Amino acid sequence: MPVSFAAVSEESVWKTCPLTPLVLPVTTTNEVQVAPNRGRGVIARYREFLPVSDSTPIISLGEGGTPLIFSPRLSAIVGRGCEVYLKYEGLNPTCSFKDRGMTMAVSKAVERGAAAVICASTGNTSASAAAYAARAGIRCAVVLPAGKIASGKLVQAFAYGAKVVAIEGNFDDALLIVRALGGRDDFAIVNSINPDRIAGQKTASFEIVDDLGDAPDLHLLPLGNAGNITAYWAGYREYREAGRSTRLPAMIGFQAAGSAPMFHGRIVEKPETIASAIRIGNPASWEAAGLAVRESRGAIDIVTDDEILAAQEWLATHEGIFVEPASAAPVAGLFKCCELTRTPVYSFTRISDGSRIVCTVTGHGLKDPDVITNREAKLTTVAPNDQDVLRAIGF
Ligand code: F0G
Repeated sequence: MPVSFAAVSEESVWKTCPLTPLVLPVTTTNEVQVAPNRGRGVIARYREFLPVSDSTPIISLGEGGTPLIFSPRLSAIVGRGCEVYLKYEGLNPTCSFKDRGMTMAVSKAVERGAAAVICASTGNTSASAAAYAARAGIRCAVVLPAGKIASGKLVQAFAYGAKVVAIEGNFDDALLIVRALGGRDDFAIVNSINPDRIAGQKTASFEIVDDLGDAPDLHLLPLGNAGNITAYWAGYREYREAGRSTRLPAMIGFQAAGSAPMFHGRIVEKPETIASAIRIGNPASWEAAGLAVRESRGAIDIVTDDEILAAQEWLATHEGIFVEPASAAPVAGLFKCCELTRTPVYSFTRISDGSRIVCTVTGHGLKDPDVITNREAKLTTVAPNDQDVLRAIGF
């Protein structure tokens, strides 16, 4: 039965959420849940669920074990005793969730004797592939859309010694090229079209269930090439089949309004959004992700760039969690789901009191410092004395 939603006003509640110190009762749920297995690496921790054998060389940088952070303010915004948690994937070794899949994909590539890995990327995959290839001692080639990669990611790909090729085209064009080149015996494709990537990424669901004691009721995440939502759903299902959880969450994916092929049900030839990670017009895992959404009775919705940037700022200034724009999409989506006037595809009026909601924030904000530096006023200097500094602080 739909529950009334009196806690949320017509006004955007989150905009008015006070930026005052929050006095929290000292309970375990208000503590950051640091997984005891931090630093072990996802293959060592979840080996029994992954396609590895004694002859697989494990190429790991200690990925996974990321914190599941309870968000008191987001929980208050949803209201009715619901709990919102943020799975902070920016704390992986190369600062995004890609490392979970990359440890698997590169381990299996080395097992098969590949001399190089190759990928198309909007940024994070390239950094992750480059790091794990360096660790494995094999070569890495990344194909990127020219001028569309956030500076923090390009720096990483160069630092790890990848061969970076920029094409005059978008991510979808880059992936077509990689599919063609990946047919060579010496190359292994490490995009999420490689099932080993999906296998590694599903470990995030395992961690969430292990931390919460069961699966959440709802899981919100950004949707780009659609591999991650596919992986999470596989993980939740597998864990339930293994008797580790009793329920399955509704999977809710958010696309950027200018880059929303699955929402509209058609390929977007020229996807546009500030959220470069999800600037994808023809997701490779479209079908599998669609199935995940249908089977889980979830939804796909869109958020605008303004909403994404506002959510990114809100998360940094209210929760101290700085994420890249794409990663703010599920938080923007959560705000939308709470506001009846914005006709969300999945209104939270339909969720039960006390529901547990997880948002995956997929990548670190330092990926794209330009988004913030372009917004903030330039620094001005003041005289080096305490009075002038105090005046400048404005207290
Ligand atoms: N969030 C971030 C930070 C990403 O980097 C990506 C994808 C997504 C969300 C979307 O995940 O594709 O599995 O639906 N980035 C890819 C890349 C495409 O090349 O780094 P998805």
